Amino acid sequence: MMDHESHTHQPFAASNICLIGLMGSGKSTIGPLLARRLGYTFVDLDGEISASLGRPIREIFEQLGEEKFRDEEASQLRRFCQQEKQVIACGGGVVVTADNLECLRRQITVYLKAAPETLADRIGPGKERPLLKGAVSVAQRLGTILSEREPHYRDCAKIILSTEGKDPDTLIGELLAQLPTGLSSPGA
Ligand code: S3P
Repeated sequence: MMDHESHTHQPFAASNICLIGLMGSGKSTIGPLLARRLGYTFVDLDGEISASLGRPIREIFEQLGEEKFRDEEASQLRRFCQQEKQVIACGGGVVVTADNLECLRRQITVYLKAAPETLADRIGPGKERPLLKGAVSVAQRLGTILSEREPHYRDCAKIILSTEGKDPDTLIGELLAQLPTGLSSPGA
């Protein structure tokens, strides 16, 4: 597979950009910068879930369970996908809920890709991340999760971008070059 892959099975009709990929892939770093460049609103889906359920993500998993988290994740995604001109940074597990895939396919979904070892280096011990809890090797745990999710990331992404060895400016430049023209607001 090449670094840049444009999937043409669905046209660029929607005007939300959804960033997907495993934890550590750079969604929350790239998201606000990209939103500023386009004159779009930045939405951090985990932040919305956290605000809605009134506690940090780690506590949602511990106190309410993953199922409750996934339900809220799905309803927040649906809510924001009904609006326009947003860059939405999604949690890495957004693709495990079937309904979300349908939603993501209708947006300009961008898969930010990196190898598990790279992601592990960026994340560090990952103490706050529920899915990494108790992992002896973060890279190994991420590798297992990635092998389950990669087909879904690819299935709903219109653009796949390797983030290996790239700084945010480089990535944003590459991404902007692949987005359809006319997305940005006048004056942005
Ligand atoms: C998750 C990733 C997290 C967060 C939650 C579950 C996952 O988001 O949504 O801990 O299932 O991969 P980030 O990808 O932003 O870390």
